[in-house]
Amino acid sequence: MVDYDGRMSQVYTAGRGMAVEEVRRWTGALAEHLPERRPLDVLDLGSGTGRLTPGLAEEFQGQVYGVEPAEGMRVLAAAHPRVTYLAGSAEAIPLPEASVDAVLMFLSFHHFRDQAQGLREVRRVLRPGGVAFLRSQFADLMPDLFWYEYFPSARTVDAAMYPTLAEAQAMAAEAGLVPGEEVVWVSAEKQRTLRETYERVSLRALSTFEHLPADELDPGFARFAADAQREPERMMPLHPGAVLVLTRPR
Ligand SMILES: C[S@@+](CC[C@H](N)C(=O)[O-])C[C@H]1O[C@@H](n2cnc3c(N)ncnc32)[C@H](O)[C@@H]1O
Repeated sequence: MVDYDGRMSQVYTAGRGMAVEEVRRWTGALAEHLPERRPLDVLDLGSGTGRLTPGLAEEFQGQVYGVEPAEGMRVLAAAHPRVTYLAGSAEAIPLPEASVDAVLMFLSFHHFRDQAQGLREVRRVLRPGGVAFLRSQFADLMPDLFWYEYFPSARTVDAAMYPTLAEAQAMAAEAGLVPGEEVVWVSAEKQRTLRETYERVSLRALSTFEHLPADELDPGFARFAADAQREPERMMPLHPGAVLVLTRPR
């Protein structure tokens, strides 16, 4: 388990913050799978520091709930007049049945203690016809991140955290949600230089580094830093994000 209450909460925004245009591209991509009517009410499940939560309120114009178990993350969360942050977790969502039109799980699903129960809870709080977005990595669709080259175990460590697409689809179906046949790929990331990327990644706001063998960290970051110093302005490749769309039947 990754502890999001301590050091992680303090480095999260600097290490993983999103630019306004990245948030807009994400919420715009989600909107393509939802009805055009407004307002729509949304649950951001595992909302962290509210990276996307106020953006959801702007895009969908309804009430937005950010449910987050780690107090350290929740207290830093970005305020918005239509956003309510609630202490809670996926396994026991503190919302009534059929209370939201959409649920976003943005890189939170792999942290759920009980993923099957989390998905049953997602189905419970969705209105009939509502849509849940599982923004995750999938073990069989892992991105080829350039910085994996600095840490020999990073790719394996990352893949081990995630279900395969078929496993995620099976879990969703078991919970009474209808999964898409394929993931949707969303290109929302802003292109960053090698120096900017090093500055973000070296804050270790990614759970990868919580699981890596300790003896890979210093040598890996030393090589990464040397490259960033040599070629600070080199532009880094972009990676689209995978989203599995899950629908609650009417
Ligand atoms: C990588 S962060 C993502 C946060 C936010 N969605 C974002 O994209 O910035 C993962 C979040 O999942 C939360 N989390 C951990 N266990 C959870 C659970 N059982 N239910 C809901 N969220 C959980 C963590 O506390 C953390 O804030």
